[in-house]
Amino acid sequence: MSSLKTIGIIGAGQMGCGIAHVSALAGYKVHIYDLSQDRIESGLATINGNLARHVASGKMSDEERKVALSRITGSSDLNDLAHVDLAIEAATEDESVKRKIYAQVCPVLKPEAILATNTSSLSITRLASATDRPERFMGIHFMNPVPVMKLVELVRGIATEESTFSAAREYVTSLEKTITVAEDFPAFIVNRILLPMINEAIYTLYEGVGTVDAIDTAMRLGANHPMGPLQLADFIGLDTCLSIMQVLHDGLADSKYRPCPLLVKYVEAGWLGRKSGRGFYDYR
Ligand code: CAA
Repeated sequence: MSSLKTIGIIGAGQMGCGIAHVSALAGYKVHIYDLSQDRIESGLATINGNLARHVASGKMSDEERKVALSRITGSSDLNDLAHVDLAIEAATEDESVKRKIYAQVCPVLKPEAILATNTSSLSITRLASATDRPERFMGIHFMNPVPVMKLVELVRGIATEESTFSAAREYVTSLEKTITVAEDFPAFIVNRILLPMINEAIYTLYEGVGTVDAIDTAMRLGANHPMGPLQLADFIGLDTCLSIMQVLHDGLADSKYRPCPLLVKYVEAGWLGRKSGRGFYDYR
């Protein structure tokens, strides 16, 4: 455990739940906030399901699952974040949504609390400017699925104080994750490299070079990736993939980051991947 004892998570989606899961396992008290009690209930059920999988595979005892779950609470009342030492915003990858959340949450948080964002691409410095605490704001970027992936990217904004960075480093280390430090450039390191690869796989499909199955099999067996790029795009969410490509395209002003028109079309159709039941694969 680090000097931060209580973690607030804003957003009970797949990332927020994963962060809550690993934090509770490491001994932190966790409070999840989301807009509705339904989302909280469904998030808690996901966490319980993932913990139960690890019990089934012998990675932990049922007692450890119960103890971890007992450390997590959730509510749709922002005031319940008043006592947290670190709040991690894991809302949708949309700058206006994040700004709105900061405007509501900052007055509630303790003045000394750290506010972090799990953004996968947006400027930390620009997001920090929408808070009342740029010196106690930074990026803590987890990978999906959080309980499985070993890496966390830490990103400072221009105003982030060293004490904020070292508290975040201590917290992430206590989760037994490996840290990589990235500078505040569009999409940092992992997504700067991963998303153009996924976008290129979608162009490969768009141009008829291969079928969905051919492209994914090629990359799984030809490059030893655990998932093919189109399956991974469905797993990340096609809306998130598109928004990261747009951040790269706008922020780096280079046509090599142009989102594939097929990706745009799928998002416009509401085909967002696994979460919506349809993407490059059919999950219905
Ligand atoms: N939560 C908790 N545990 C999970 C899980 C989840 N959502 N999904 C899988 N697991 C666990 C399983 O319980 C299993 O654990 P045990 O070894 O204890 O049994 C283990 O992971 C392996 O799972 P499976 O056997 O079901 O499936 P698999 O071997 O095909 O692995 C995978 C699944 C781990 C997701 C693997 O396919 C993989 O690594 N895929 C690539 C993931 C990736 O690249 N993530 C990065 C995305 S990019 C990102 O996150 C950045 C961003 O900002 C967009």
